[in-house]
Amino acid sequence: MKLFSDQSYWIGCLVLLISNSCWALSSDRQQLNKIHSGAQLFKNNCSHCHNDNYPKAPKKSALQKISQTTIYEILTNGVMRKMASHLSDEQRQQLAGYLGGNKSATTIEKVQCENNAPWFDYSQRPLINGWGMTNTENTRFIPDAIAGLSFADVKRLKLKWAFSLPDGKASRAQPVIAGGAIFIGGNDGAVYALDADSGCMHWRFDGGSSRITTASISGWKGERERDEINAPTLYFADRDTVRMYAVNAVTGNVRWTYKVDKHPDAKLTGTPTLYQSAEGNYLYVPVSSTESYNSVDPSFNCCTFRGAVVAINADNGELVWKSYVIPTEPTEQYKNANGVPQFGPSGAGVWSSPTIDKVRGRLYVGTGENNSSPAENGGSVVAINLRDGSIAWVMQGVSGEAYNSSCGKGDEINCPRSFKGRKGFDFAASPILIRSENNKDIIVAGQKTGWVFGLDPDSNGKIVWRRSISRGDINKGVMFGMAVEGTTVFTTTRDGWSAPRDGSPYLGKEELGIYALNGLTGQFLWSAPVARDCKKTICLGYSAALTAIPGIVFAAANDGDFRAFESATGEVLWRFDTVKKFSTVNGGESTGGGVYGPGPVINNGMVYLSSGNQIGMPGNVFLVFSVNGR
Ligand code: HEC
Repeated sequence: MKLFSDQSYWIGCLVLLISNSCWALSSDRQQLNKIHSGAQLFKNNCSHCHNDNYPKAPKKSALQKISQTTIYEILTNGVMRKMASHLSDEQRQQLAGYLGGNKSATTIEKVQCENNAPWFDYSQRPLINGWGMTNTENTRFIPDAIAGLSFADVKRLKLKWAFSLPDGKASRAQPVIAGGAIFIGGNDGAVYALDADSGCMHWRFDGGSSRITTASISGWKGERERDEINAPTLYFADRDTVRMYAVNAVTGNVRWTYKVDKHPDAKLTGTPTLYQSAEGNYLYVPVSSTESYNSVDPSFNCCTFRGAVVAINADNGELVWKSYVIPTEPTEQYKNANGVPQFGPSGAGVWSSPTIDKVRGRLYVGTGENNSSPAENGGSVVAINLRDGSIAWVMQGVSGEAYNSSCGKGDEINCPRSFKGRKGFDFAASPILIRSENNKDIIVAGQKTGWVFGLDPDSNGKIVWRRSISRGDINKGVMFGMAVEGTTVFTTTRDGWSAPRDGSPYLGKEELGIYALNGLTGQFLWSAPVARDCKKTICLGYSAALTAIPGIVFAAANDGDFRAFESATGEVLWRFDTVKKFSTVNGGESTGGGVYGPGPVINNGMVYLSSGNQIGMPGNVFLVFSVNGR
């Protein structure tokens, strides 16, 4: 078919008079034309970001792993809405057809458990829950009684089973474990309840539209609650629809949903924190945004989104309060060089899971950059009173600076006046509250600048210590999270270290890897640079959150290497390369890739990890390890 020109093709058809197959070929041909114009559209509108090293933009090869329907949705209502707003509906379809091809939205088979009722084991309490897993101080430390994995066991860890999460670009979920099940969300709006031992599926929830956050599950009192009304509730958020969901954990049926923010570019990315106390059950939902990307359009009124934390009554889904981390409402500040009004303050998206301080009745969150001038409360740790959502204090890590996606790339018309050349000062990782014995508690917070802070919760977040562990930048420094055992802080870096830019003490280390610090003083304890035991052609650093168990810290890297370190020394005890193909319990093969967001989970002698990310190395596998794979 490709051999004919348009004219000779039709002439050939007429001559041969095989009209039926000619019509069939002609529709193939239309498909081919579509692909050509899709390619052209991609080249003209998308490739400068998606083929280049534009921060956070997945490579074309990663986009090609997404289904056609999902791509169309992303271009029409999702994060790329603004990038495709000048294109017609047909052009967006052509782009979706070109990138997504004939891949169906879901590539996994259902693997229903054989005997499904009643399956929920009420004797197995929720021991792994939410972002912090075992506590709402977000230490990401799992005590021995829950982890159940000894020093000797770690060296014998082998793959037990793998599960394929659909829409092959990324696998960024951290499981919740309760009732004998694993609850885990995918990137296509689905949530699964899987048998913790075998991986068979109890139910699948299909109501979301995009990446689902890590979930939380409510507690229960007795075992007499096995009915539709009293069964525990599973809570999670859907990134793009900005909706919080509460579903029956035994059936997957929806109990309530709540639209958390109405701004067109608001997103839910951080894990909502479930806090259950005598005073009630509340969800604290962090709200972030992708508005910064829109600023690359010179006609865009940058920017009006403000980061927020929303408190919801977990029992009925009713709003309790909404607290903007930037109290000032955005107003017109000035006009850009094209005469387009620019608004501010804006930005300071809350990307991290709120950390609860029961003693002081507060929560702590990190905020992202301000996206326009003036720079109010961006790149900060913010303390909010649980009772009414009022802001107790703000510690701004970098003051007076703002950044958005238009800075330093192509058309800079919308770059904020307070841009000072620095990119990436989000506190994207959840702050950690360290409780110390003499009641001198400390908040530890890591920033993308490569700085780690120790803050005093009793003196309005006064800086007790500050340590520079890497040079930092957008997508660098400390990204998704640290872990704490006792008073020792384990932290990641995604980039190397050169010269101190802030005058803070030089550590004498120059490599990306894992660092251990004394959480009370910031004193350097050890580092484990990836270069030390690198066996790949390119060894990358770490952005995914860490997880600690007694004596051991687990870390998965951007190059897909999964390691267990001895906490006292940083020696590598065990490693596993997740960049390979796995046969999965739900049928077919799935590949691992870079590990970026949520971190490992350890429970009852098993280790759980999601591998694969759209930025860097795509993949979509959820891995389960046990001692000798048993
Ligand atoms: C100014 C740079 C830029 C341009 C132009 C751009 N993109 Fe993107 N794109 C990004 C970034 C950055 C992300 C990552 C967004 C995120 O998930 O935070 C992204 C993400 C995506 C995703 C994945 C989103 C998801 O939910 O996983 C798709 C698909 C995509 N872009 C398609 C396109 C197409 C098609 C075009 C052309 C019409 C385009 N992009 C133009 C920067 C760009």
